[in-house]
Amino acid sequence: MCGIVGYTGPRQAAPILVDGLRRLEYRGYDSAGVAIHDGKCLEVVRTLGKLRVLGEALDKRTLPGNLGVGHTRWATHGRPSEENAHPHVAGGVAVVHNGIIENHTALRKELTDGGVRFASDTDTEIVAHLVDRALRAGATDLVAAVQRALARMEGAYAIAVLSQAEPEVIVVARQGSPLVIGRGEDETLAGSDIAALLSHTRDMIFLEDGDVAELRPGKVRVETVSGARVERPSKHIDWSPVMAERGGYRHFMLKEIHEQPEAVSATLRGRIDLDAGDVHAAEIGLDPAVASRIRRVYILACGTSYHASLVARYWLESIAKVPTVVELASEVRCREPLFTADDLVVAVSQSGETFDTLGACKAAKEAGAHVLAVVNVLDSAIARLAHGQLYTRAGPEIGVASTKCFTAQLAALYLLAVYLGRRRGALTPERAQAHLQALCEVPSHMHELLGDADYVRSVATKLAPARSVLYLGRGLNYPVALEGALKLKEVSYAHAEGYAAGEMKHGPIALIDADMPVVVICPRDGTYDKTVSNLQEVRARDGQVVALATRGDESLHDLAQHILWLPEVPAAVLPLLTVVPLQLLAYFVATRKGHDVDQPRNLAKTVTVE
Ligand code: M6R
Repeated sequence: MCGIVGYTGPRQAAPILVDGLRRLEYRGYDSAGVAIHDGKCLEVVRTLGKLRVLGEALDKRTLPGNLGVGHTRWATHGRPSEENAHPHVAGGVAVVHNGIIENHTALRKELTDGGVRFASDTDTEIVAHLVDRALRAGATDLVAAVQRALARMEGAYAIAVLSQAEPEVIVVARQGSPLVIGRGEDETLAGSDIAALLSHTRDMIFLEDGDVAELRPGKVRVETVSGARVERPSKHIDWSPVMAERGGYRHFMLKEIHEQPEAVSATLRGRIDLDAGDVHAAEIGLDPAVASRIRRVYILACGTSYHASLVARYWLESIAKVPTVVELASEVRCREPLFTADDLVVAVSQSGETFDTLGACKAAKEAGAHVLAVVNVLDSAIARLAHGQLYTRAGPEIGVASTKCFTAQLAALYLLAVYLGRRRGALTPERAQAHLQALCEVPSHMHELLGDADYVRSVATKLAPARSVLYLGRGLNYPVALEGALKLKEVSYAHAEGYAAGEMKHGPIALIDADMPVVVICPRDGTYDKTVSNLQEVRARDGQVVALATRGDESLHDLAQHILWLPEVPAAVLPLLTVVPLQLLAYFVATRKGHDVDQPRNLAKTVTVE
């Protein structure tokens, strides 16, 4: 969703802002803008469309100045247009904003009744007018004016504000939406996430909800909305700037697919004790006695993270012998789920900011459940809310279609299953050793699969014309079928549907004909015979079959037009591997169609609205 960047320091602000916005492009946006303070005046440039258009507008007029804020907007209130693009200005105040101001209708009416004329349809413009009004009413400085404005606002937001009267100052605030501050020697930056700032500094301050910070060159002062001083120490980030670059790959998505062996290795590193057959993960924050008492694991997630959670259910039930429920966080919030203090609630999220997942976790926490965050982004909202954090260590994921975070989530959730299995007496050290050994071998098998990318590309050329593709799998392969279908639809815009193979006869079989490619995940595991029967049913109706099969399974040659080979591994780790050719398939179909795979249409990387 929207991206915010701010800069105050000795350098020219405009190029830094545009570069930071470029690094936030992956979040999704439809328009962009900057406000620059040249020491005397604030100048604003806003454009509809991609950052290239903003860059061209900035090339036409120089905007000198050492202070500025920039924004990429993903429309919520008001259509995508230049007038609705941020920054919004009122008097001498410019504001950029991410999130939604829930009481905007009442505030807009109040301001309109007071004589304000709005220039846009956005909720953000309200903030600019509230701050401007507070300054006119005698607020001592910009911080005080922003605090007064925030006291009137309800909802989730991150904002950055400039005032013509204070040529060195940015005031930022957060409530529910992400915002980080980067500290340099004599400069200070703000951004919606770490990736926007990494090329300037790795020392970051993570604001808490309700914080308001005054940024000056090299200085940061943080207060609460009510003006109480608070200390927020800076943290050194171990993500390197090159991790957020394409590094020779054509797209981030392809780079991130290839980074999976390292993402999984990093997630396992230091957490596995093979000799003892155990997992070290004190950060889960569960007392062993509590771990043994848990009656149920309740996993909450959206999108790809939901698919990883569905895989985890198999592991938690079979390895840790704990009843497990997996729910779409957006759906849980439409019900009154009966969380209890005996539940371990696991929130799975790449960004750690997904609004629905965060909201569902809040409800679980209020009900007394122990909340564990399996997230990739350090200090994200879900990580903060949770009692424990099992971080995936995939590094920054820039491509909107999640790839390496999916497999890193699987690695973390597998560790969780073994961890709980050992503490609940469900797993002997020997069995745990076998699981962990298989997990440790996953990265090298991933390398093998990535080596077959050229063959996957040739299969993609056959699939590219299809308007619709069905993905089938049973057991552990079913959530991977869902994920394969999601990847294809996200980046190639083809309709794709993941289905439990056993359900095919209950409906989707009606769709099958010579124009309907069917991707069947049928490794030699416990589901093999039944899945092959489904495959035969597809062939009998002239369906085009792409099979994912265990290397050496020659019997499938008669049933499938194309076979993507899988290594022979214990069945439980298969989801970490079967997904790799499916990600490549989606990528190659999309690039063949000429799509922007890193920023597919209409999608945002971090979904901070309901
Ligand atoms: O950051 P999260 O993992 O919570 O995000 C959840 C979904 O928005 C995300 O997985 C989405 O489905 C991706 N675009 C999938 O590729």
